[in-house]
Amino acid sequence: MQISLDQQVALVTGASSGIGAGAAKALAAAGAAVVLNYNAQPGPAEELAKQINDSGGRAIAIGADVSKEEDVERLFAQTLDAFGFLDILVANSGMQKDANAVDLSLADWNQVIGVNLTGQFLCARAALRIFNKQGIRQGVSRAAGKIIHMSSVHQRIPWAGHVNYAASKGGVDMLMQTLAQEVSQQKIRINGIAPGAIRTAINRAATEGDAAQELLKLIPYGRIGDVEDIANAVVFLACDLSDYIVGTTLFIDGGMSLYPEFRGNG
Ligand code: BGC
Repeated sequence: MQISLDQQVALVTGASSGIGAGAAKALAAAGAAVVLNYNAQPGPAEELAKQINDSGGRAIAIGADVSKEEDVERLFAQTLDAFGFLDILVANSGMQKDANAVDLSLADWNQVIGVNLTGQFLCARAALRIFNKQGIRQGVSRAAGKIIHMSSVHQRIPWAGHVNYAASKGGVDMLMQTLAQEVSQQKIRINGIAPGAIRTAINRAATEGDAAQELLKLIPYGRIGDVEDIANAVVFLACDLSDYIVGTTLFIDGGMSLYPEFRGNG
């Protein structure tokens, strides 16, 4: 079977940089029309949309803050206006605002939970409403829609100094599983991806120089991940090759979640 997302429409939130941009590129390369959502800065998402269109694909950039209900509703309505359908949602927008718990402001707690968890709920809800109306598009996909929730190894690994982020990702895990349990009978496939340390702007300080050497001690496979490591899995989970994969999380982390500190210890 060949990987093809021809005739399918994918919406990627947080697509102006990092994993979201990589996922959008890979989905477009597999044949999907892609909506690149950004929040604050249109420039990079519009540039990526242009690149995709110039190379024969179909893409548009749409601004929306995924933590705001009215923005999300508009984002999905504009997606349908542009491409007529929605087949794949990659709920990817995420952010860190790091501090020890005693110093963490309520505003920074709320913002991270708002984007990373509430944002994924609002986008999933909007996608499910569309998938339910569309049903299975015969000859396009075996499923009536696919959602990929971008989580983190920190849905499983506690992370001191990042309690808002880790709590949001723990929430994403249960959001994903509960939604999958709720809608699988409607032939909607929902899964998650839990990336480890992937080299992007979110963790630049930890992935460069001496810090990178420390980080590598936590990665048995011996390298920091690239955006493509995640983007390839997004395409796999979005296409029919994974048609029987439902409600699970794929850890893509070079073994980080194997707790390598326990080798020869404990
Ligand atoms: C975080 C990164 C971190 C990685 C591994 C990710 O979810 O966003 O900052 O490097 O987990 O700890």
